[in-house]
Amino acid sequence: MRVIIVDTATEVAQTGGDIFLQQLARKPNSVFGLATGSSPLALYQHLISAHLDQGVSFAGVTTFNLDEYLGLASEHPQSYRFFMQSKLFNHIDIPNSSTHVPDGASKKPTETCRLYEDKIASSGGIDIQLLGIGRNGHIGFNEPSSSLTSRTRVKTLTQATVNDNARFFGEDETQPSLSLTMGIGTIMDSAQIVLIATGESKADAIQATVEGAISASCPASILQMHRNAIVLVDRAAASKLANQEFYTFVEDQRRKLDAQ
Ligand code: GLP
Repeated sequence: MRVIIVDTATEVAQTGGDIFLQQLARKPNSVFGLATGSSPLALYQHLISAHLDQGVSFAGVTTFNLDEYLGLASEHPQSYRFFMQSKLFNHIDIPNSSTHVPDGASKKPTETCRLYEDKIASSGGIDIQLLGIGRNGHIGFNEPSSSLTSRTRVKTLTQATVNDNARFFGEDETQPSLSLTMGIGTIMDSAQIVLIATGESKADAIQATVEGAISASCPASILQMHRNAIVLVDRAAASKLANQEFYTFVEDQRRKLDAQ
């Protein structure tokens, strides 16, 4: 696991965005796994700028989002499909047919989840997966106690996650407590994983992810078992890591080796 600590949230977005752009340069028909929430917003802005200012094309990319609220149709403003359209897809040249978000309006969610897995597999698998992290260590909507080998399925949200995400919903809007989410096993099948986190509110979750025991109590801790995972954080999110200096030293060494 690489731990990259940068000074600010802006640098998290730039560094993370550049990792995706490098992947795209290596493989123009890459399969991206994407995330929602506030964490990826600035990273998506970085990708949009690369498209608008430098002519970077996403026309060959296929995307799979991690999760969706069960019960929210794609046109619902709080749905993750709506979020992805307005925060990324509508501003780059990716064909809509190449973007996938689990269907929150599905009447057969179990089958929808199975088909989602099939689609990921038939696309050749995810080359690079972006993750945020919940304050309780969840990834996608895999809450604590989720099986560490789970596949895409229906999951119930914890009250803590419902509360954390309540800020996106209006007072008169019903907030779902069920979701469709890629499983932890699905996420772990990605060739590369980039988890981003900013701010002090994520510091405990990042500490447990990087330095805690691997446990379903902190689903993100499974990334310790991944061969190509990066945890990219700002100073505030890194503030509870015991070995911050070592991680920074490792990255310095890496840069020196790369420059040789
Ligand atoms: C939601 C999403 C997660 C996301 C998390 C953190 O629960 N399902 O994928 O990582 O929120 O969101 P934020 O980045 O807004 O803190």
